[in-house]
Order: sequence, then structure tokens, then C-alpha cells
Amino acid sequence: MAWRGAFVSSPDDDAALRTIAAGRDDVVCIRERAAIAEIATWGDQAEISFLRRDAHRRELLHWMRLSRRHPRYARDGLNREALAMSAAEALGAGIVLGSIFRALDRLGLAAMLVSERAKTASAAGLVLLFRPKHEDALVSGRHFYRLWLAIARAGFSACPMSALADAPDVNARLCALARVDDGRRLVNVFRVGRPQTTKAVSHARLPVADLIV
Ligand SMILES: Cc1cc2nc3c(=O)[nH]c(=O)nc-3n(C[C@H](O)[C@H](O)[C@H](O)COP(=O)(O)O)c2cc1C
Repeated sequence: MAWRGAFVSSPDDDAALRTIAAGRDDVVCIRERAAIAEIATWGDQAEISFLRRDAHRRELLHWMRLSRRHPRYARDGLNREALAMSAAEALGAGIVLGSIFRALDRLGLAAMLVSERAKTASAAGLVLLFRPKHEDALVSGRHFYRLWLAIARAGFSACPMSALADAPDVNARLCALARVDDGRRLVNVFRVGRPQTTKAVSHARLPVADLIV
């Protein structure tokens, strides 16, 4: 389950982060506050570059269930609990990502309104997964999910930040920062930490019978 809200720090964070990367050569954990803050800004730059594409925003909105009245609210997609959004924030997200996005962007407001910088900067750390460039994508995906489980085992919640890996310029910056060799690619980046709330959240999941066809 992804945690898309902010994080609170704990004295155990550093030790827990070390266990995630221990004994493996495909994971880099970034723990320095200044580096995390800088990458948080890169995350925003990457995200807005994708959000400027109409089709991308359309698909994102298609998966978002911003009101409890949405007919598929508890069935699939990203509901308010999954997005860690209040009713007001969800209403705002729908407006910003909807028809007025371009106007807001022209006024220089869109980037600020969709910023996740504060959430990323609150993370205990960033966990980067590098896999061999020519590895089968399914195998890399398996490593991605197993890494997510290892993060959970270390006591953290996590949110993948795919924009950091998908935007070529930011991806290259992260590869340089982590000094990975040429034969590897950045598969994804997780921001990890302890959620601000201990409240149990319910994310929509399709019934098993609908998944196995
Ligand atoms: C390859 C991959 C990339 C993902 N990238 C993102 C992402 O950039 N942002 C995000 O919020 N969730 C991302 N997710 C998480 C999924 O959207 C989904 O949230 C997750 O599988 C768990 O569902 P949940 O949101 O109900 O917890 C990604 C998942 C996968 C498998």
C-alpha cells in the first residue's frame, strides 16, 4: 500500500534505512537532508513536466476518485484515503488538474499548487533502485515489488516517485549523484518514512474474482 501523505521522523530512521540497502548492490539510500530537499525539487520539476501533457492529466483524473460519491470509490483507483487528501484538498485537486490547469500554469500557479516538495522533504530517506539496463522488465518489476516489501519490513511506508525515473534529465542527475556504473538504469525511487497518522486507511482493491480472468 502506498502512503502519499507527509512523514514524521523517528530516532530509529537511520538504522532502519541502513537495513534496506544492506548486502545489496542495486539499492542506494539517500539520507542527507540537503540532498533529499534538492531531489524533492527535482521531483516537482519532473512531475509538472508530465502534468503539462493533457493526456497525462486526463488519465490521472480518470484514476482519481476525488469524491465519496464516485461510483467506483471503493472499487479501484485512487480514492481520498489512498491519496491522503481531505475533502477540500480533493476538491481542489480536481479543479487544478481539470479544465483550468493551462490557465493556472500560464499564471505560474500550477506548479506550486501540485507541489509535493514538502511531503518528499519530510521523508526519512529516498530509496533508489538500479537494475541492469538489459534486464527483462518483468524481472526488474519483481525486484521493485520485493524492495517495497523490504521497505515495509524495515518499518516504513513508501510512495514510488516514478516521475524522477521517467524524466530523462532528472534520471541522469540521479544516476550521476549515486555514481552508478553505465550498465545500470534507475528503475524507480521511493520516498520512505513513518506516516503522519496511525489511522488505518482503506485503499480500493478489485475483488480477486475480477482479477483472475
Ligand atoms: C511501477 C510502478 C510505479 C508506480 N509509480 C507511482 C507514482 O509515481 N506515484 C504514486 O503515487 N504511486 C505509484 N505507484 C503505486 C501504484 O499507483 C499503487 O498505488 C500501488 O500499486 C498500491 O496501491 P495503493 O495506492 O492503493 O496503495 C506505482 C506502482 C508501480 C507498480
